Amino acid sequence: MEGLLTEKQRLWREQVAKFAQHQVFPEVEAMEQGQFPRALLAEMGRKGFLGIPIPATYQGLGADFTTYIIAIHELSKVSATIGVIVSVHTSVVTMPILAFGTNQQKTSYVPLLASGQKLGAFCLTEPTAGSDASSILLRAERADEYYVLNGTKIFITSGGEADLYLVFAVTDPASTKKNISAFIVEEDTPGFTIGKDEKKMGLHGSKTVTLHFDGVRIPKEQLLGEEGEGFHIAMSSLNAGRIGIAAQSLGIAEAAFNETVTYFKRNPAGLESTIRLGDMATKWEAAKLLVYQAASYKQANRPVTKEASMAKLFASKTAVEISTEAIHLLGMAGYTNRYNVERYFRDAKICEIYEGTSEIQRLVICKQLI
Ligand code: CAA
Repeated sequence: MEGLLTEKQRLWREQVAKFAQHQVFPEVEAMEQGQFPRALLAEMGRKGFLGIPIPATYQGLGADFTTYIIAIHELSKVSATIGVIVSVHTSVVTMPILAFGTNQQKTSYVPLLASGQKLGAFCLTEPTAGSDASSILLRAERADEYYVLNGTKIFITSGGEADLYLVFAVTDPASTKKNISAFIVEEDTPGFTIGKDEKKMGLHGSKTVTLHFDGVRIPKEQLLGEEGEGFHIAMSSLNAGRIGIAAQSLGIAEAAFNETVTYFKRNPAGLESTIRLGDMATKWEAAKLLVYQAASYKQANRPVTKEASMAKLFASKTAVEISTEAIHLLGMAGYTNRYNVERYFRDAKICEIYEGTSEIQRLVICKQLI
């Protein structure tokens, strides 16, 4: 892994790790109590963490994709909540606006997103469309210079806290394939309201909410890409998103592994327990290679669908397995909040679910192979 990074990337990793220890760690307890980390995100925005792979001309850091993934990985070692907020904001909101936006959309929104003055949310999932994303029902009907949106989105990360929502809606119900379009919706648009705020098993500092669209009038200039291009925008954005979630998983796995090693150094255990660290370390190293391979493909503009899904599938499974094993090895202490491993365990599980379940990742990989 060390050999896979440039000197500059290694220095960046140390810089992010220091930031995570000094600025993120002190906020972990408040996030665990359900507090959304608004002040911390504002500080991260000022430091460039919310626009790492975005060009400097749009107020980003202008770094490569691997540099961005290093940050998600390092931040998630300390807080998986921060990892997912940064990943969703960057991979599936800011990057698609940069990739598919008009000049007007790019200059209006990307600098504000990249500098953290605005936070983004990605809105695809609906009550009757989770894994089968193409069966969404939220309707966008054209009326003169506007589209009128009606429907509901659920389980939206950062919903209610975000300022800009990338919303996928049906524009042509008659078409079976190219019926979905993407829209940029500002949080104060009349008819757009925030619904249920979910109570979750983990990621307590991140919001997961329902969104209601009741006759929301969106100027036609807010259509992202072409009409009918929405499914393609969603899927290609999710490729970058899945590498981000894979890096988040890697951070959780590494943190759980490190805490187990530290525990064993202080509380030496029998050989049978100690050698289980060998399996943990091997899985984690393998996950790391898949995650950084996917990042390097994305960075080189190579097709990355299969690699992104493989990285997410394996890294999320690894995070669940290592955090489960960590609790087991620490015994009763691991089941209590004296240690962080119970938090890692609670935070790891969602990585196998959001941005495409493990079953969906297997399906995507198979479709690429056959
Ligand atoms: N990258 C690029 N293109 C892709 C793609 C990908 N990952 N996956 C599919 N496509 C393309 C296909 O190549 C195909 O293109 P053509 O029409 O040009 O041939 C088109 O999309 C349709 O593909 P399929 O025929 O495979 O479509 P499908 O409907 O059978 O299956 C699916 C698609 C893979 C199951 C898809 O629906 C999917 O990924 N579902 C999971 C949705 C998901 O990840 N949701 C997460 C929401 S975000 C979230 O979790 C919340 C959060 O904020 C963290």
